[in-house]
Amino acid sequence: MSDSKIIIVTGASSGIGEAVAERLTAEGHHVVAGARRTERLEALAERVRGTGGSIEVRTLDVTDRAAVSAFVDATVATHGRLDVIVNNAGVMPLSRLDALLVDQWDTMIDVNVRGLLHGIAAALPHFQRQGAGHFVTVASIGAHEVVPTAAVYCATKYAAWAITEGLRLEVDPSIRVTTVSPGVVESELADTITDSTAAAAMQDYRAAAIPPDAIARGIAYAIGEPAEVDVNELIIRPARQR
Ligand SMILES: NC(=O)c1ccc[n+]([C@@H]2O[C@H](COP(=O)([O-])OP(=O)(O)OC[C@H]3O[C@@H](n4cnc5c(N)ncnc54)[C@H](OP(=O)(O)O)[C@@H]3O)[C@@H](O)[C@H]2O)c1
Repeated sequence: MSDSKIIIVTGASSGIGEAVAERLTAEGHHVVAGARRTERLEALAERVRGTGGSIEVRTLDVTDRAAVSAFVDATVATHGRLDVIVNNAGVMPLSRLDALLVDQWDTMIDVNVRGLLHGIAAALPHFQRQGAGHFVTVASIGAHEVVPTAAVYCATKYAAWAITEGLRLEVDPSIRVTTVSPGVVESELADTITDSTAAAAMQDYRAAAIPPDAIARGIAYAIGEPAEVDVNELIIRPARQR
């Protein structure tokens, strides 16, 4: 088992974030899990503690910069340090641009881009002061290719990739930076799609989905490497996905 780390996971109430929290706590790390659906976080905490894991959960809306900052500061105040922040929270209400679901474009930008930036802004000063830290961004294969109905979603994930790579280039080597880009994974991500055309297209597209623990294993691998090894990027998708 690796040394125990203090790890924040955003968007831990379902899907990939929940699997990441379960895997990292099973590996002996302490996870501070955030999301808006507190009751789902409480259920996760009960499961984790039932198997001897160490976790605390707090309500978090990543679109609220002050809330993200307070979340990170409280973690450092409680534990004396923060080792890793997994910026995972995301939404994917897909639609064609001509559907003009402009409010949903804004939501994707707010959560997937601003939420990531808020996490970076909150953790970076602590990592610099500590002379250590690890940023993990959950992007997407949507950071590497664009498909119809996903223009804005992919734009937010291209942005997440670019921000994270820029961060990696800028920071001191004592701070590690990892981008993880999943392919199709079982989760609740498609549940926010209100556009019927996009929802129908997703039925076939998501048929080959792999379990979220496949992504959690990749993140655990990156975190578990020694301090001088930075796993910059992982693309993890179903073997059947093209
Ligand atoms: N599943 C896939 O196929 C796939 C593929 C590529 C990339 N991804 C990425 O993986 C990440 C996790 O998604 P998922 O697939 O696990 O979907 P999911 O099951 O819908 O999980 C999304 C998580 O984000 C949280 N979230 C959404 N808005 C938030 C906000 N404003 N503040 C805080 N938390 C928020 C949700 O919690 P609350 O609603 O409780 O706040 C939930 O825990 C996302 O960034 C997604 O883009 C997923």
